[in-house]
This record gives sequence, structure tokens and C-alpha cells, in this order.
Amino acid sequence: MISALIIGGGGYIGSSVAYYSHARNWDSVIVDNLSTGHADLAANAGCLLVEADLRDRQKVFALLQKCKPDIVLHFAARSLVAESVAAPSMYYGNNVVGTINLLDAMLASGVQNIIFSSSAAVYGIPHEIPITEEHSLLPISPYGWSKMMIEMMLADYSRAYGLQYVSLRYFNAAGAIPGAGIGERHEPESHLIPNILRSMLRKDGKVFEIYGNAYSTADGSCVRDYIHVEDLARAHIQAAQYLLDGGESTAVNLGNGKGYSVLDVIESAKRKLGSNIPYNIKPPRSGDPAVLVASAEKAGRILDWKPLWVSLDDIIGSAWEWHRKDCE
Ligand code: UFG
Repeated sequence: MISALIIGGGGYIGSSVAYYSHARNWDSVIVDNLSTGHADLAANAGCLLVEADLRDRQKVFALLQKCKPDIVLHFAARSLVAESVAAPSMYYGNNVVGTINLLDAMLASGVQNIIFSSSAAVYGIPHEIPITEEHSLLPISPYGWSKMMIEMMLADYSRAYGLQYVSLRYFNAAGAIPGAGIGERHEPESHLIPNILRSMLRKDGKVFEIYGNAYSTADGSCVRDYIHVEDLARAHIQAAQYLLDGGESTAVNLGNGKGYSVLDVIESAKRKLGSNIPYNIKPPRSGDPAVLVASAEKAGRILDWKPLWVSLDDIIGSAWEWHRKDCE
């Protein structure tokens, strides 16, 4: 049986992975400071929750010493680009300093394996689509820099101390596992699909807003690669297995390899909801690249992974089912 410490397992992606690890009979424990994570999501994942903050170095050392898991899966991070521009200290303190504590505690306890939750934000404004892992790394926000710095730390700790890691660079996580009571819940919400769906559930008359319609894309709105959270979860399980089987440390993109514009997403949601979705056009959000689409070739080759949720309508349908219940 694989034992895992799932740091940040009270969040949207962390709890989805925790749920899948539990379903595979892993002995998984969730650690979360509950600043943006949720105790009910951790409970729905079927895992024990330990409340701790990675910035509490002593506590993290004690926790690793006690658990000594086969593998750590690290999701704990602040993850809003705009917030990171306004409050970089929070991002470097929480994401980078917290991770230094975690890695040092792993070394002190002899824990060698870690799956790290990275992001397409490490690429900045891409000069080539689809984006492969060899694309240059040039983030454009403190959030992106914090993820890139951690990737660099992992590489250095690996060279110096033999730490084994896989950095998984997510494109746009979407959808939910409504049957398990797991889905996306951020306050405030900034992501596209939840904002569209919540605008339809809201009773205050506030309509959905599109940030920019003059990008150099086919319809002028931004293009993203939406990947179902269940596919992300399976990729983590496979990445963990890959590391535990002696696979080399590396970074891997996780995306569908297909781009959809904001207007495509609205059209898809319309089909799913069977109703019109009113919207207003607003100025572009600062720091939004026009197009982000992954090459998922490496994930297929190295992790034997491919997305099973290939229809955007189905991805949005699962999110709709979750938000309808969660907003009751
Ligand atoms: N958008 C809107 N209206 C909204 C919300 C979003 O038009 O209410 C647009 C955005 O401008 C963007 C697209 O929808 O063009 C997707 O936006 P999201 O906020 O859903 O996702 P992002 O692409 O901004 O963010 C994702 C990850 C981040 C990561 C970032 C890298 O969620 O963690 O990619 O650029 F940092």
C-alpha cells in the first residue's frame, strides 16, 4: 500500500487527487491550513485531515517525521495571478518559503519523492503553440515566478540531495466530481467556467463579464486548454507510480491539447444549460496571455496518460452539476 501526504488536499485539485488515491487504497493523509481549502472537501475525499501551515517549520518537520510517507503530493499554494501582483509577499512567503520548509522536512525524515503542482504560468507569454516542456520559462506574475522558483529548487535539491520529483504543469483545470461531492469553490471566484455557471445561478441580476474581445485569436477572446480535474487526478496517481518505480525526475504538461475561446466556452455552456447566457464585454485582465494550449505528448509518453474527458460540453456539464448543488 502506498502512503501519501497530500499537502493542500482541502483544495479543488488536491481533494480530487486525494479522492482518487483513497479509491486506489492508498493510505493518504491530507494536510491543509484551510486558508483557501475546505474541510468538507477533504472529508469527501475520504482522508484524514491534519490542519497545518507549511510556514510553521517546526510543525512541518514534526509531521514528516511522524508520517514518513512514501510520497508527498504538494498542492498548497496561493494561486490567483492578479492577487499575486498586488501581494507578492504573500505569494513568495506562502508558496516559496512554505515549500523550502516542506523539502527540508522531507530530507530530514528521509522522504525522497514528491509530486509538485506546477502551472502553465511558468511559460509566461508563449512564443509557440502548442507549448512543449522545452518552451522557455519566463513567468509574468509573482504567482508564475513562485511556481518556477519551486521547480528550480526541486531540480537543485534533486542534484544535491537525491530528491525525486515530478512537476506537473497544469493548464486550465475544469469540471468536478459531483458524485463524490468534490468541485471548485473559491471565494472570490475568478475562473471562467465557475463564473459563467454562477452567473446563471445568481439572483442579483449581475451578468457574466468577458475580459477582452480584441485579442489576436479567431473570435477575439482568449483561448485556453481545459482539462478535467478527474484526468488531472489520474495523472497524479500515474506520476506517483512512475516515481516510485524509479522514473527520472522531470516536468510534464497536463492539458487536453485543444484550445477553446471564452466565446466557445459560453456556447458550450449554452448547449448544456439550454438557455441563453447574457454577458458584458470588459477590458482585458492584465497578465492574460491570448492563447495557452499544451502539448500533452510527454505525459502520454512518460506517464502513459491521456485525458478521457475530451468533450468540453461534458466537462462543463460536470461543473454545472456540482455548482447547482454547491450554491444551494
Ligand atoms: N475570463 C473571463 N471572465 C471571467 C473569468 C475569466 O473572461 O469572469 C477569461 C480570462 O480572461 C481568461 C480565461 O477566461 O482569458 C480563463 O481564465 P481563468 O481565470 O479561468 O484561468 P486563467 O487562464 O487565467 O488561469 C489559469 C490557472 C492559473 C494560472 C494561469 C496561467 O487557473 O492558475 O492559467 O496563465 F496561473
